[in-house]
Amino acid sequence: MEIAIRLTTAPKAKPGPENLGFGRVFTDHMFIMDYGPSQGWHDPRIVPYGPLSLEPAAAVFHYAQAVFEGMKAFRTVDGRVALFRPRLNIERLNRSCDRMCIPALDPDFVLQAIKTLVDVERDWVPSAPGTALYIRPFIFACDTVLGVHPAQTYKFLIILSPVGSYYAQGMNPVSIYVEPEYVRAVRGGTGEAKAAGNYAAGLKAQQTAVAEGHAQVLWLDALERRYVEEVGAMNVFFRFDDEVATPELSGSILPGIVRRSVLELLRSWGVPAVERKITIDEVYTAHAEGRLKEAFGTGTAAVISPIGQLAWRNNVISINGGQIGELARQLYDTLTGIQTGRLPDEFGWLEEV
Ligand code: COI
Repeated sequence: MEIAIRLTTAPKAKPGPENLGFGRVFTDHMFIMDYGPSQGWHDPRIVPYGPLSLEPAAAVFHYAQAVFEGMKAFRTVDGRVALFRPRLNIERLNRSCDRMCIPALDPDFVLQAIKTLVDVERDWVPSAPGTALYIRPFIFACDTVLGVHPAQTYKFLIILSPVGSYYAQGMNPVSIYVEPEYVRAVRGGTGEAKAAGNYAAGLKAQQTAVAEGHAQVLWLDALERRYVEEVGAMNVFFRFDDEVATPELSGSILPGIVRRSVLELLRSWGVPAVERKITIDEVYTAHAEGRLKEAFGTGTAAVISPIGQLAWRNNVISINGGQIGELARQLYDTLTGIQTGRLPDEFGWLEEV
């Protein structure tokens, strides 16, 4: 399929790197493609970024049949633009689509669409340390009937946003609230899909966490409220003495691409890195015994985000004295080093635009 390109006649001023924050500014163009029962996915186009016109009855507003992805394009030290493991995001997008009854996309075509859009917006890829061009592909249902069933019409869009740190604190360790009551997802539900509704379900707990001075929520499993699952916008890792552990993918946890890359990096360094069940009691016991050395979140948006403090049922613990841990620092430096071409791409993770 040929991607039609219509360029803006009113390009926006690009923001400086200082106050980018996360996902507040959008580039000049976006990608759109439609799906209908007879044409399949069709009419791919890049057009000026702007509002969409949708009927109030559009299914996405009522029943949340919507999925998304998050990935980044980086400016390398020698001025190239590279995507980080984009095929893994595209595979996950199709798995999310399958879970939400959305028709699959051709992975090669999605990669072509992302590359074409990023190429059009090449000048928007920032180069300051810690910045990137965040890529947000998303798909939603457009049918205009109120019956509950998988839609027959969809839109697939890609928008781009130059970003700095996800958290206002940057890479400084954050405080995380262990949610005792609400749950994010249950096995058999949509937790392992990147479904829009998962994030809506998490807002109530996040609101409480933020009101109490924490950055985000750590979710426990839905059945027993014992097993650690993930943090609001990240997967989570703990370093118990010299073993690094992250919750195993149980069906309710998002299979993060940075999570996977961190496991691969650690194993390549000879650090024992395991995926297994972790109870919140184990975390607190290890802390009491002096064996909890570090905790950190991983995600595309947040990269590596050290956890300086955990609060669970009024029991607040400080991890690594609230300082950035040695492993978290090393992982951050290595990942961003590979992403920006400061370090060799030994694993073949970059895909140049
Ligand atoms: C990402 O890390 O890219 C995500 O999609 C998390 C997001 C909800 C900010």
